[in-house]
Amino acid sequence: MAVRDVLTIGDSRLRQVSAPVERFDDPALAALLDDLRDTMAATDGAGLAAPQIGVPLRVVIFGISRNPRYPEAPPIPETVLINPVLTPLGDDLDDDAWEGCLSVPGWRARVPRWRRLRYRGFDGQGQPLEREVEGFHARVVQHECDHLDGVLFPDRVPAGLPRG
Ligand code: NI
Repeated sequence: MAVRDVLTIGDSRLRQVSAPVERFDDPALAALLDDLRDTMAATDGAGLAAPQIGVPLRVVIFGISRNPRYPEAPPIPETVLINPVLTPLGDDLDDDAWEGCLSVPGWRARVPRWRRLRYRGFDGQGQPLEREVEGFHARVVQHECDHLDGVLFPDRVPAGLPRG
């Protein structure tokens, strides 16, 4: 139960591939979820992934009620998602929305993401969770789950056209 420091780009721990959670009754998992919630609340983030606070496990949280960082965003339920598997639904890309990241301070960019997807995983009690989502919700899930594979949003920004 603590607000933890959020690692920033350049820290090699953000580039690790995180390991699946194997025990849902581990008190360390409950403590991690508390720390993620406290840290996300303190930073007004839309989501946070465990590697961002230096814990290399496949755990993300996200959710938006009213967020001053995202004034136009529709609400997303407060969600704990563990060992996620994402499946795009269709091949439609949304490349007209801006992203930022607490681990990449001071920078925002347009990032192409799948417009619709299904995600599966487990909640904080180890119960299966499955949703089909689109738009900003789908974007947030893709962004947070990228952190579990050591990917940061600047990696997803397409290279510009060469100048003639
Ligand atoms: Ni991020």
